Amino acid sequence: MRLAAQGRLPRLLFDYVDGGAHSETTMRANAGDFAQWRLMPRILRNVQHIDLSTRFMGARHRLPFWFAPVGYLGLLSPRGDIAAGRVACEAGTVMGISTFSIAPLEEIAGAAGQSACQLYMVRDRAITRDILDRAKSAGISDLILTVDTPVTPLRPRDARNGFRAVTRFGARHVLDMVRHPRWLADMARNGPVEAGNIARYDLGKGILEQSARLGREIDPRLVWDDLDWLRGVWSGRIYVKGVLHPGDARACRDHGADGVIVSNHGGRQLDFAPSAISCLPVVREAVGPDCEVLFDSGVRRGTDVVMALALGADAVALGRACAYGLGAFGEAGVARAVDLLREDIASTLALMGLASIDELKAQPRDEIIARITP
Ligand SMILES: Cc1cc2nc3c(=O)[nH]c(=O)nc-3n(C[C@H](O)[C@H](O)[C@H](O)COP(=O)(O)O)c2cc1C
Repeated sequence: MRLAAQGRLPRLLFDYVDGGAHSETTMRANAGDFAQWRLMPRILRNVQHIDLSTRFMGARHRLPFWFAPVGYLGLLSPRGDIAAGRVACEAGTVMGISTFSIAPLEEIAGAAGQSACQLYMVRDRAITRDILDRAKSAGISDLILTVDTPVTPLRPRDARNGFRAVTRFGARHVLDMVRHPRWLADMARNGPVEAGNIARYDLGKGILEQSARLGREIDPRLVWDDLDWLRGVWSGRIYVKGVLHPGDARACRDHGADGVIVSNHGGRQLDFAPSAISCLPVVREAVGPDCEVLFDSGVRRGTDVVMALALGADAVALGRACAYGLGAFGEAGVARAVDLLREDIASTLALMGLASIDELKAQPRDEIIARITP
């Protein structure tokens, strides 16, 4: 999928999805550190029927994974965020809606089944309040507060390509698009694209200007009081996204969050931060069994999902795995990515002698997963 996405998308967009912060060390570690764990196969248990359903975000879902909020999906494929929402709905899981979605959150929520609204708190609290009101009116009860982005670090590929830094497309961007005619033809049929979720706020015209201005508006002054404020104004569930430290995870819980999302933003924020999978066991330990723990960053295979669940996650989110599918083949690509992962998780469970995700979650950890000693 990743290679097919690379072939179809302009370099500017492929690099935006594929790239990470600075040296991309954390991004690579996210995927690589799954190799530090080993799963235990068990034999002679009936695994003819595998049940992948499990509970998270207040409901039982048909899959143990959901779609992480990813900005600009509607640039990868026409109405791409709506397409992803539709696939999530058909697959029986949750769609994460990014603040930076191309379609307004209302439209994505309309196409999805259950969706979760991701929030970047901006300096202008009136915008934050309006997004909360809109999410509530759209029937959304799960809010994801992303907190690992007080600033956006250097992402060398984006800097090289002029992504987000520019407010007008230049000749090389046009050339980049022309060199990817399938993508261009698809997008041209749908007319000009805006940062549709935020276009109603006074942030200028066109996607480049709107995104650059909202990006600068993300509030770097956030403190725990702001989580208290959010808890006071939002009556649904709150998940704090971008938690790696056990003390922070405990504080999220104590400040009223329903759950934390163990994530380093797919290696797009602090380079040389630990991989998300290496932090998951201690975070689960820190918050105890009653606080939900969701996980993302580096998940590409069924074994990654199973390892994260074995290490204490209630469910796992897909960022790039979904975006590559969309960039490669549009809606069909996302559906294919879901199918592949579903099959992969089912066969992993079967080989471990487990017939369901719930059975996996009920196992004593030491019985099913072990860290290899260096
Ligand atoms: C292209 C791209 C855009 C993203 N946009 C957002 C966003 O708008 N809000 C957010 O909270 N996280 C965003 N993320 C982070 C994802 O929600 C998720 O944490 C990350 O992709 C997980 O890592 P993975 O891509 O290795 O699965 C983005 C990630 C990517 C790759």
